[in-house]
Amino acid sequence: ENMHLRDAQGKPINYVRFSVTDRCNLKCFYCVPEDGICHATQDQMLSMDEIQRTLKILHQLGVRKIRMTGGEPLARRGIGRLIRLASAMGFDDIAMTTNGVLLPKFAGLLRECGLRRVNISLDTLHPERFTHITGVDSFKQVWEGIKAAQENGLHPIKINAVAIKGVNDDEIADFVALTRDHHISVRFIEYMPAGVPEHYNPNQFISVAQMLEQVQERFHIEPLQRETFSTASMYRIIGGQGTFGFISPVSEHFCHSCNRLRITADGKIKTCLFSRHEHDFLHMLRNQSVDDATLAKYFIKVAAAKVAENSDMYAGSRNMTRIGG
Ligand code: GTP
Ligand code: 5AD
Repeated sequence: ENMHLRDAQGKPINYVRFSVTDRCNLKCFYCVPEDGICHATQDQMLSMDEIQRTLKILHQLGVRKIRMTGGEPLARRGIGRLIRLASAMGFDDIAMTTNGVLLPKFAGLLRECGLRRVNISLDTLHPERFTHITGVDSFKQVWEGIKAAQENGLHPIKINAVAIKGVNDDEIADFVALTRDHHISVRFIEYMPAGVPEHYNPNQFISVAQMLEQVQERFHIEPLQRETFSTASMYRIIGGQGTFGFISPVSEHFCHSCNRLRITADGKIKTCLFSRHEHDFLHMLRNQSVDDATLAKYFIKVAAAKVAENSDMYAGSRNMTRIGG
């Protein structure tokens, strides 16, 4: 028990968001800087063996939930093998946050390798608008990807949509309508200044309260019980198959209930999405004289410095695409 990860308040850290690559096959305007991003070189990134070793140590430290993120995690070669290794280690929940473009190709394999579920990022239901937001004409692939995930039992499927005024705020109710007849969950994320802070326009922000109002104009809805540690407040259309909800990192921080750490593709620990400070453990992984026990102690020390501090969003040191959300 005392070998488990805990934050400064003694709260267990049992959820790790693991970014397996900083590359993405989409270029969403709010995520990727205009002048392009500087990717880690192969050598600056954790190798398969290094990821495996890190996962094993995290499991020993009481982590029970792993979420693979990116960049785009399906763009990492060997992602299937990685999921298979992670499942064999005995995590309770292995999930992935993906843009869905490669899901038609990968859904079956992922399921076979032990992935339980996927959260799919999709900000619009209009193909042309998708191209405008992401810079790539692949709405159809994502839509097919959602179907492929469903057919391969990657349940429950969650769709994440970042709500941005003047971009997709006229689609809130349309997204919600999907949950009436389908067994899916749609979550709207408040637009955060992270990512490309200098391009962030506060006038494009829509609050959860505003979104909720739009939904209520069209549907009779009921709130659902909030799960502990959930990032979202959830609702259902009365009589609907699926659910929808809101993630409000801007209007209502959830730092007090945060149970996670983030690992970047280049071997750094972040205790908060917005923390500037990063804890580099890549050099330790590559130092012959550092054993697993020493690494574990380092993770424990870093976790113990994690405080619920409502970090300044504008201070973020990385573009979102290099953190994985
Ligand atoms: P579930 O395991 O399905 O509950 O997923 P999740 O909500 O933990 O993960 P997902 O990747 O779907 O997260 C959705 C979005 O919530 C992220 O992309 C972020 O925008 C936001 N988010 C998740 N974790 C944090 C966090 O620790 N802080 C802040 N500010 N936002 C977060
Ligand atoms: N605000 C809110 N969500 C964001 N994401 C990326 N950048 C932002 C932002 N500035 C979301 C992506 C994806 C998840 C990994 O993070 O759309 O759903």
